[in-house]
Amino acid sequence: MKNPWAYTETVKEHFLNPRNFLMGDETKFKADGEGIVGNPICGDQMLIKIQVKTRENGEEYISDIGWKTYGCASAIASTSALSELAKNRTLEDADKISAKEICDYLGGLPEHKFHCSVLGHQALHKAIKNYQEKKAPEGAS
Ligand code: FES
Repeated sequence: MKNPWAYTETVKEHFLNPRNFLMGDETKFKADGEGIVGNPICGDQMLIKIQVKTRENGEEYISDIGWKTYGCASAIASTSALSELAKNRTLEDADKISAKEICDYLGGLPEHKFHCSVLGHQALHKAIKNYQEKKAPEGAS
């Protein structure tokens, strides 16, 4: 990125029109799993909720996703991008989405805002784990 202060057009577009954002009462989103994380650098928080379905071949995938944050423009754009990337992926594939993949999708982030992009995928990781723990038979983990 040439100008370290500049946001790409994709970042701006996702910030202004965030996808899968939980507007208002997030309890209306019936979640199969949810994860919440805080950013130790800035103190912001991120909540991600997922719905999971099973394909005919037995693969579990993210059928829907919703999120909410106190975070900044970078966090909002990054998590909007993450939510697009994660939808319809298997749990395993969605769990592998990295901050780099999110940044690439957005066409880059200013270096000093890179830490904002990790909030979403950390919360998604927790939401997937939460789903798997709820589903596991009692005593197994
Ligand atoms: S400054 Fe907190 S998430 Fe970006």
